[in-house]
Amino acid sequence: MKKKNTVIQHYFDRWSCHYDTDLRRYDYSAPAILFETISAYLDKKDKLRLLDVGIGTGLSAFPFQEQGGFHITGVDCSQKMLDICREKPIADELHLCNVAQENLPFADNSFDLAISAGVIEYVSDISGLFSEVSRVLRPDGLFAISWETPETKRLYKPGLLKGILEDSKHRVVIQSAIWRNFFPRTYKRYLYSVEMIEELCGANGITPLETKSFLAYSPKADKNITHCLLIGRFS
Ligand SMILES: C[S@@+](CC[C@H](N)C(=O)[O-])C[C@H]1O[C@@H](n2cnc3c(N)ncnc32)[C@H](O)[C@@H]1O
Repeated sequence: MKKKNTVIQHYFDRWSCHYDTDLRRYDYSAPAILFETISAYLDKKDKLRLLDVGIGTGLSAFPFQEQGGFHITGVDCSQKMLDICREKPIADELHLCNVAQENLPFADNSFDLAISAGVIEYVSDISGLFSEVSRVLRPDGLFAISWETPETKRLYKPGLLKGILEDSKHRVVIQSAIWRNFFPRTYKRYLYSVEMIEELCGANGITPLETKSFLAYSPKADKNITHCLLIGRFS
């Protein structure tokens, strides 16, 4: 039986055709910063097997493809984001996979490097994602994750069907709404603290090597979204 699309799949399916244009306009810097930062840790003797969790249209995988020497595999829950990615010469393999509901469709020790940029904000329980990433990474493999932290919570103003639903020490939950067939459908975004991500890494055998905060994008002149980038090594 075909699974019903979640509101997040629908949100990204609908955004897919103008996602790249929007992100260019917003000066999305995560792909370049993630690539530059992790490059310092890479031992590039052989072709490296890279997994992009939530690859979207391929913006964060692109610098790796451009440099060369990577076999790039992407997973995403939005078929339409994957369709746009497939039109570009970025990924060698793309798989439809909802990491909030399914295991990654790969054997243990399949990758030298995993990246994920701007994805955990859409996943309410991220413990499975971390255990799956550590399962598919080889020993000494690297994980680079970039995400919006609670630092930005002051930017989310309450309104009809939107606003902060939960504001706890390690997780802020923000509700927003999209309209479908004249009816609103609400969805949630999750801002996880750096401490929580470091703890989840530790619990899954990933030792944090470096974390840094940076301006990831600006959807409006007065709305600057910061991300944290964490680089970890699996052992
Ligand atoms: C903000 S976009 C980031 C895309 C890309 N990583 C980038 O840097 O441009 C978030 C992506 O995560 C995907 N995503 C969100 N929740 C997901 C889930 N549960 N499983 C797989 N992909 C998910 C979305 O479909 C979307 O393509």
